[in-house]
Amino acid sequence: MLFLVALAGCGKPVAGGAAPSPAAPNAAAVPSASTVPVPAAPGTECRAAPRATLDAAKASLAQAYAKQFQIGVAINGSVYEQRDPGAAALVAAQFNRVTPENELKWQSLEKQPGVLDFSEADACVAYAEQHGMEIHGHTLVWHHQVPKWVFQNDAGEPATREQLLQRLDQHMAALAKHYGNRLKYWDVVNEAFNDDGSLRDTPWRKIIGDDYLDQVFLLASKHFPEAKLVYNDFNLEKPAKRDAVVKLVRGFQARGVRIDGIGSQSHFQLEVPTLQAIDDALSAFAGAGMEVLISELDVDVLPPAYKNQGADLSLNAELSAQLNPYAECLPGDVAARAAQRWADIFAVFSRHAEHLHSVTLWGVSDRYSWLNNWPVKGRTNYALLFDRELRPKQAWQRVLEAAAR
Ligand code: G3I
Repeated sequence: MLFLVALAGCGKPVAGGAAPSPAAPNAAAVPSASTVPVPAAPGTECRAAPRATLDAAKASLAQAYAKQFQIGVAINGSVYEQRDPGAAALVAAQFNRVTPENELKWQSLEKQPGVLDFSEADACVAYAEQHGMEIHGHTLVWHHQVPKWVFQNDAGEPATREQLLQRLDQHMAALAKHYGNRLKYWDVVNEAFNDDGSLRDTPWRKIIGDDYLDQVFLLASKHFPEAKLVYNDFNLEKPAKRDAVVKLVRGFQARGVRIDGIGSQSHFQLEVPTLQAIDDALSAFAGAGMEVLISELDVDVLPPAYKNQGADLSLNAELSAQLNPYAECLPGDVAARAAQRWADIFAVFSRHAEHLHSVTLWGVSDRYSWLNNWPVKGRTNYALLFDRELRPKQAWQRVLEAAAR
């Protein structure tokens, strides 16, 4: 049975944290007992931070938003293999759709040509089906996590357009044969645009040509006639990128290429993007006749290592204390800002509920967030709604309460 009441103030005292500091000339520079942040547990919100007062065993995000949109979560083996039973129970209680975080990527399914290994993806799909959750397939065409052989011929030279399209055709056919129509949505193409709206120069584009997005969506509609076909990307709040995606949709519609939805990843920070920019992007996609999915939501609370950080996996910065300021615990004022940010973001989503199919969080707990390792490996981030001890944060409660407005 889940027992997730927030236990404000519990936890081990930190050695040395409570000793009164004698008055000294440079007292201001020495943190006093009251200014040393004390973690309730390592990597959680500091003890002084406001905590959730509602019980996550009794209130569920999915139920709270049932009349507006589905609430999804990206999961990994900790959940579907029950390696973390608490996280698995939390997912089942709080969410009603899942996205396999890595299991359906080409690299996970088909490391060697024609040798398909569905074991992890099957375990993930089985977990979701046991709990009556909708499953979001992620992702068919991406420039990351694709084995090199996909883009090469037998001699190790670049594959031809025909070879690559045939490989993709076979890959989709294998997925369609294996899963039938059990996966209701597919991210057909992931991250094809640069932030300035130009097409990203990926191996897919280089080999197939500038019409590759048409070709890929046409293949997907052949193999997944009943699934909703989605274009998925990050930084879609940037006007140039947003407009490029709207133009893509309009072009598809004019040429008779089926596309059903736009997945806006929504890897947000505390201040960026603005609520207005989020609102504008949702309006633009809905205005183009698209179903909209918030596909990978999280809120990074750490200092950005790059301007216009987005979610470009090729970015990588050195770990430093400056870039990892909350290694012990998250101070109350930052936790409060994050909680407010989550509530504000969901208020925008609610205004678009008519066209918004789902809001998916990119992970269940801070313990599993990719943002602990990107763009700086080994940071302590606090980007999700449940802490490292799986306790609900104040942000969770604010999101829950925002549903009622
Ligand atoms: O499975 C291998 C394992 O065999 C190996 O021992 C280990 C050593 O590093 O790596 C494992 O693969 C890792 C994989 O996650 C599974 O854990 C990769 O190195 C690692 O790069 C990969 O990271 C994932 C990343 O996509 C790249 O695929 C993150 O978990 C995942 O959260 C992230 O998700 C992406 C979305 O797909 C697209 N949008 C952005 C989002 C965040 O980057």
